[in-house]
Amino acid sequence: MTGTDNERARKAAEGLAYSSGFGNEHSSEAVPGALPVGRNSPQRAPLGLYAEQLSGSAFTEPRSHNRRSWLYRIRPSAAHPPFVRANRGEIRSAPFTECLPDPNRLRWDPLPAPADPTDFIDGLWTLGGNGDATQRTGMAVHLYHVNASMERRVFGNADGELLIVPERGGLLLRTEFGLLRVEPGHVALIPRGVRFRVELLDAAPDGTGPTARGYVCENYGRPFELPHLGPIGANGLANARDFLAPTAAYEDVEGPVEVVNKFCGHLWTATYDHSPLDVVAWHGNHVPYVYDLRRFNVIGSISYDHPDPSIFTVLTSPSDTPGLAGVDFVVFAPRWLVGEDTFRPPYFHRNVMTEYMGLIEGAYDAKAAGFVPGGGSLHNMMSAHGPDRETFERASAAELAPQKIDDGLAFMFETRWPLTLTEQARDAGHRQRGYDDVWQGLQRHFRP
Ligand SMILES: [Fe+2]
Repeated sequence: MTGTDNERARKAAEGLAYSSGFGNEHSSEAVPGALPVGRNSPQRAPLGLYAEQLSGSAFTEPRSHNRRSWLYRIRPSAAHPPFVRANRGEIRSAPFTECLPDPNRLRWDPLPAPADPTDFIDGLWTLGGNGDATQRTGMAVHLYHVNASMERRVFGNADGELLIVPERGGLLLRTEFGLLRVEPGHVALIPRGVRFRVELLDAAPDGTGPTARGYVCENYGRPFELPHLGPIGANGLANARDFLAPTAAYEDVEGPVEVVNKFCGHLWTATYDHSPLDVVAWHGNHVPYVYDLRRFNVIGSISYDHPDPSIFTVLTSPSDTPGLAGVDFVVFAPRWLVGEDTFRPPYFHRNVMTEYMGLIEGAYDAKAAGFVPGGGSLHNMMSAHGPDRETFERASAAELAPQKIDDGLAFMFETRWPLTLTEQARDAGHRQRGYDDVWQGLQRHFRP
């Protein structure tokens, strides 16, 4: 990618207009009059556009779970040549069968930089996951470290939605629904089947050209929704109004565009004679969105102990069992700790759920060292974990004045099933050996 392209992406990302709200019936038109009024599929759609419905749920699912959008586009999506199998690079999908599920606590340094020009599709590197993409259950954890924008290339994922968590470098997402800007500290969600292109906005810290690094949760299951609030009340945690959907923006581009389609774990490619990002107007609730994690309204204890980390849930993908999520997205955002007679860092625990943690910036209050931005840790089902020795000793002796935790932004993908690694994650040179050592030397204090 040239510097000029980078500037073009940056310019396009300035001053974007959004539509606010979570799960709303949004509507938008890039050309006045492009959106039909009073019906979805008129005999002739306005401005010579084609009408097309994109369904993210079965037609017959309850209204509370029903997701679909109507798109008014220059050409219908059906106008494409056959897809053929493509190299899937380092992308892997459920079911994950390369490795045995591992009960050990595991940790990785950041994904190394690519040696060659690498865009978002080529740069996706799968750590592991669970479930089965063809059964629409489970999830996968991917990382990316890329140095090129996608050019004349568009991606779409039939297998699930993609929650993108940038850690380094902003992204411009050109989607069928319009443009989204997502920076480190923000997250973006691309719903199942929605086509998009990823362009890079920022240079590497050493000034050597564009770069972006981060995490992706691929959710094969029911789309993410906001958690119920119960006794918290009508407000709090992630507030619905802070989720931002794009406004319509279209490409009227003739000429070859490669469309890469992830389908049942493999990549398929077709070269269209036009850009499929040609939606001039749309309405519906199956839409991409961005969210600023610093807007998360953190709820915590003002007496003693602290709540379980489910209190930090931003988004949840429910399963058929109430309260048992296929995957939760949880953020450890800046917050005050004021608990009296309380061990304030996360407590030691063993959990039937499986926890993959990443760090967007700063430090995490349960780990003194080794868990760095861009890295990640995996605590599989029932693996024992908690603060490291240094953190335990410090927190046990700390004077319990009110304390602001404001130097880090960590997150967790927490899932109901054990997570099985890919071979590349198990064997990676950037996987830390000796992670168990952080819990060595915890002193015996028992005095019967
Ligand atoms: Fe944990």
